[in-house]
Amino acid sequence: MVCVFGAIRMTDGNVSMGTIVAFMIYVRIFSQPLSQLAQAFGQLQQASAGMNRVFEILEEDEMGEESNKTKQLDIIKGDVAFEHVHFGYSKDKTIIHDFSAHAKAGQKIAIVGPPGAGKTTLVNLLMRFYEVDSGTISIDGVKVHDMKREEVHDAFSLVLQDIRLYE
Ligand SMILES: Nc1ncnc2c1ncn2[C@@H]1O[C@H](COP(=O)(O)OP(=O)(O)OP(=O)(O)O)[C@@H](O)[C@H]1O
Ligand SMILES: [Mg+2]
Repeated sequence: MVCVFGAIRMTDGNVSMGTIVAFMIYVRIFSQPLSQLAQAFGQLQQASAGMNRVFEILEEDEMGEESNKTKQLDIIKGDVAFEHVHFGYSKDKTIIHDFSAHAKAGQKIAIVGPPGAGKTTLVNLLMRFYEVDSGTISIDGVKVHDMKREEVHDAFSLVLQDIRLYE
């Protein structure tokens, strides 16, 4: 706009070229801090979202002590059994209601269901990312609850649906 109006006024002979150039520089000096301010505001919002996540993690309960758990699986066959498993991420909302299933060693199994059915939740429980509310999950007859978490994790290969840890 400065260029267009400046050009018109210059052809009228009202202003000089120098005035227009000076005005353009003033406009830039004026708008720079404004855009910096907007940028800083965006960064502040990002920081506040990040801070919330940090506090969420800090407020998590400590994981249970497991040094007394001694059950180990040296040679894993791969018999996996869920027996009467109940689970909910929060106490008031049960997501897995009395689920039982048995996967024999060597079987290839696909779990199919609509979004939010609880497929990933089953894997989360199997790998002890969460603890079941009641019921048992066992590998080759050994309850995963009686094994150390590392021991359970070592028994699996997992490719996550959503591979981002941090954004
Ligand atoms: N970390 C969590 N905290 C609370 N609720 C959760 C959590 N993860 C999943 N849920 C809820 O548990 C239910 C089952 O989710 P789950 O992720 O197991 O579904 P899914 O079958 O894997 O779905 P998708 O096909 O979308 O992967 C959903 O209602 C979901 O909102
Ligand atoms: Mg899923």
